[in-house]
Amino acid sequence: MRSLSNLFISFLLAFLSFGANAAPVSEWMEQQYSASKAKLFKNISPEGSRPGTVVASPSRRDPDYYYHWIRDAALVMMTVERLAAFESKKKEVYLKNLYQFIELTRFQQSQQTLTGLGEVKFYVDGTPFLGPWGRPQNDGPALRALALTRFAHYLIAENQLDYVKKYLYDNKLPSEAIIKKDLEYVSHNWKNHDFDLWEECQGHHFFTRMAQHRSLVEGADLARKLGDSGAADWYQMQANLISNEIQWHWNKNAGIFVATLNRVGGIDYKHGMDSSVIIAALVASTGENTAVNIKDDRLLSSVKRMEEKFAEIYNINRQTSALSPAIGRYPEDRYDGYNTGKSGNPWFINTLAFASYYYKLAADLRTTATLKINPRNVGFFRSILRRVSQQDLPESGIVPSTSPQFGKIIEGLIKAGDGFVERVKYHASQDGNLSEQMNRETGHMQGAENLTWSHAAFIDTYLDRKEAIGQ
Ligand code: NOJ
Ligand code: NOJ
Repeated sequence: MRSLSNLFISFLLAFLSFGANAAPVSEWMEQQYSASKAKLFKNISPEGSRPGTVVASPSRRDPDYYYHWIRDAALVMMTVERLAAFESKKKEVYLKNLYQFIELTRFQQSQQTLTGLGEVKFYVDGTPFLGPWGRPQNDGPALRALALTRFAHYLIAENQLDYVKKYLYDNKLPSEAIIKKDLEYVSHNWKNHDFDLWEECQGHHFFTRMAQHRSLVEGADLARKLGDSGAADWYQMQANLISNEIQWHWNKNAGIFVATLNRVGGIDYKHGMDSSVIIAALVASTGENTAVNIKDDRLLSSVKRMEEKFAEIYNINRQTSALSPAIGRYPEDRYDGYNTGKSGNPWFINTLAFASYYYKLAADLRTTATLKINPRNVGFFRSILRRVSQQDLPESGIVPSTSPQFGKIIEGLIKAGDGFVERVKYHASQDGNLSEQMNRETGHMQGAENLTWSHAAFIDTYLDRKEAIGQ
């Protein structure tokens, strides 16, 4: 009798703490997953465009995002690849998009531009936009090489070696194949200054360098597999040099990786904190030979510092502290989705990146036998553990996977990720639109609607959560 009433009370409490809308976040995620897929594919090859085109958003004015950005498109294609692996029944549809993207890339790479393959955005007919813009942006070809390299490995496994050698990677110089062209560009241009992923700041960037490093590491692997061993050595050597440069971005006093070093142009009002560091980690911090690994103490520290900062600067975060903080690009941001010179807002892709980061940590931990606690990461893991348990952790030592804390830490990491998803849910619209930003005062969405990248980021987060819970 007693335990029954206890059960009743705990149900009641659970109900009250979630409010009337008590559905767990995973339920909403299923619904948003379908919506995001539908909306994402609407933005690929829209009517009247050259097939393979990924518009950044259907919005053609205020703001005009009806262009194919190399960066956005490459990230979206990496998501499409994950979908193809996850939903094998619909694989053919996904593959068709990838083949069209390859065709489009062949065309775009053959165009005359102002900054070679570092050119930023293209009209939907495949020709480059040559008006004034922050160019080059050298993360673009690196991300594209990465997307295509991953696809090439898949195709080789599917006995499509001839296709790969003809269109994706040949052993020629100058090359006629798109991955090799991008890798040559990356390996010969990474030392140059360029504009960052936010298209504002000119210098050397953590995000860009992480993308460049990763593309060369995975590219070297592909080159070796295809018998291009001289190129493989060269790519690997350049990757090592980039990795050395990346380490300089760590600022010990601030406890963060700073976004830009050696600034030579563009905006001058940033102080260094920028959540693109976490987006970089999602793209480039897992697998072999990472420059900065996903569970690196310096990333753990960066995440914490940024959470604290964004929690304090936006009104919507102060109003609803029950939810994890909505995350912006960087604290001093002045772009409001329409104009620069205003007040910046939290963004969906950045907030989702924090969710994904925690899920990826959980997934990583799941596959490793032990967790090493040291004085630098103990604070982080204690706060994770406190979310779900009364247990404590020693200052340093090894937490083996068989210990009771180990499972709890994984549970706590998933819960931390869920907090950011709850935040996104709170600001998303009923019909599943995810714009670029949410207003820092009112919480309403603003900026480009149905941003393709927002939907891709949501799908990635959804898949990352599946991996974290072991499904
Ligand atoms: C300024 C923004 O800060 C930048 O990120 C954006 O790409 C351009 N304006 C174009 O909209
Ligand atoms: C502005 C963002 O700052 C940039 O990263 C993105 O490529 C474009 N919008 C298009 O979505």
